[in-house]
This record gives sequence, structure tokens and C-alpha cells, in this order.
Amino acid sequence: KYVVAIVAAAGMGKRMKAGINKQFLTLEGQEILARTLQKIEASPSIDEIIILIQKSDRHYLELILRKQPLSKPYQIVYGGKERQDSIHNALTALPEEATVVLTHDGARPLVKVNKIEEVINGVSMTGAATLATPVKDTIKVSHNGQTVDYTPNRKELFAVQTPQVFYKEVLLKAYAQAYREHYYGTDDCSLVEKTGVKVSMVIDDFSNIKITTPEDLILAEALLRSDI
Ligand code: CTP
Ligand code: MG
Repeated sequence: KYVVAIVAAAGMGKRMKAGINKQFLTLEGQEILARTLQKIEASPSIDEIIILIQKSDRHYLELILRKQPLSKPYQIVYGGKERQDSIHNALTALPEEATVVLTHDGARPLVKVNKIEEVINGVSMTGAATLATPVKDTIKVSHNGQTVDYTPNRKELFAVQTPQVFYKEVLLKAYAQAYREHYYGTDDCSLVEKTGVKVSMVIDDFSNIKITTPEDLILAEALLRSDI
């Protein structure tokens, strides 16, 4: 197994309203992206890293890498318009030896190393695996955002996180098909599901939040201090 981790950090962080890409904000003094890279670096099963950033953020990333050098081989690749376009760019840079590809959001610095290892091991079940948590809220479906259409059974609902892990051929095929069909998904698994491959779920804890809005910074710092 040769595992390449793609860290997606090429977004704009618009919902954070910070004026800079949220991943360069700090939690307890350390940049979010620096914390995420540390987790990837600490996962023994990961062999190589591709970091996706926007060209204009390259300087920030280089500052982080100077403070905190990576020991694993890595490449920096520029992202695209949507997250899916960014991952697509990274797939063109995959090394020949890669057999397993892991995708992770730069904005999920609280992921546990043992969960990264668990989801990497989970890939052998069906060829695709994701971290997931049972949803705590009751979810309503509304096509217009004003009135409720129906209420799916909460027991059947899961929120997915990253890492998501795939056999290389499974992910490459899914991306090729998505671009052929002009399909955009909000996670990599949704592309794979369209090809008929079953995605396995590895149950995550509730701490692996995606830093998205200002509240999440407060929550993340509280989680870091509490060591849950
Ligand atoms: N991402 C990316 N390339 C894009 C868009 C997003 O690599 N074109 C990354 C983000 O940097 C983030 C992850 O994908 O780590 C999840 O996306 P999201 O939380 O939506 O981040 P942003 O798109 O940056 O935030 P927003 O949607 O609020 O602008
Ligand atoms: Mg986004």
C-alpha cells in the first residue's frame, strides 16, 4: 500500500469572514493548516502529501513549512474554483507508486491520528471509506427553504467528515465520470457513489469539526483545551 494524502486548503473561507483564508488563522497560537498537516505527518500509514492551496496563499504556507518542516515527501499544487476542481488538480500530480488516495480538509485540524489510521484500514472493505458520525439533530428536507417537505428517519442519517480514502483507480474513475457528466458533489464519496462502488463508513467521534464559521474557532479552542 502506498498512501498519498491530499490536503485541500485552496478555499477562500468566505463564511469565516476573516479577510484571509481561515486556515491561516490560529487556534491556541498555531495555524489551523499547521495543525492539520501535523496530524497527516503523524499518521504512520501516510507515505506522501499533496497540499492544495491558492497561489496567493503560497507565502503563508511556506512560513508554516519553515516553522514546522514536513519529513514526508510533499508537493504543493494550486487549487481550482470548487473543492472538487482542487482535488481534480491534485489527482493529476499523483505519483506513479500511489495505490491509495486520502482526501482531507485543511479546515479539519482536530481529526485524531487513530481515526485517520482506522479509515485508511477501512478502504479494503469496499474500495472507498469515510469517517462519519450519526447526526444529533432532526433533519428536515425542504426544496424551497421555506416549508418542510418531509423528515427523514434520523437513525438513517450520518454526517460525513474527512479523511475519505479510496483505492486510486476507484477515485480516478469517479472523477473522470463526474467531469464527463458535469456533476459536482460536496464530497469525494458522492462522486464514487455515482459509479456504483459502496462507500464504507468508519464511525468518527464528534470532535472532528470543519472550521467554517466564527463559532467554530471558539468550539475548536475549547475542544483543544479539553483534550476530548
Ligand atoms: N477547498 C479547496 N478548494 C476550493 C474550495 C475549498 O481546497 N476551491 C478546501 C477548503 O480550503 C477547505 C475544504 O476544502 O479546507 C472544505 O471547504 P470549505 O469548508 O467550504 O472551505 P472554504 O470553501 O474555504 O469556505 P467557504 O465555503 O466558507 O468559502
Ligand atoms: Mg466552500
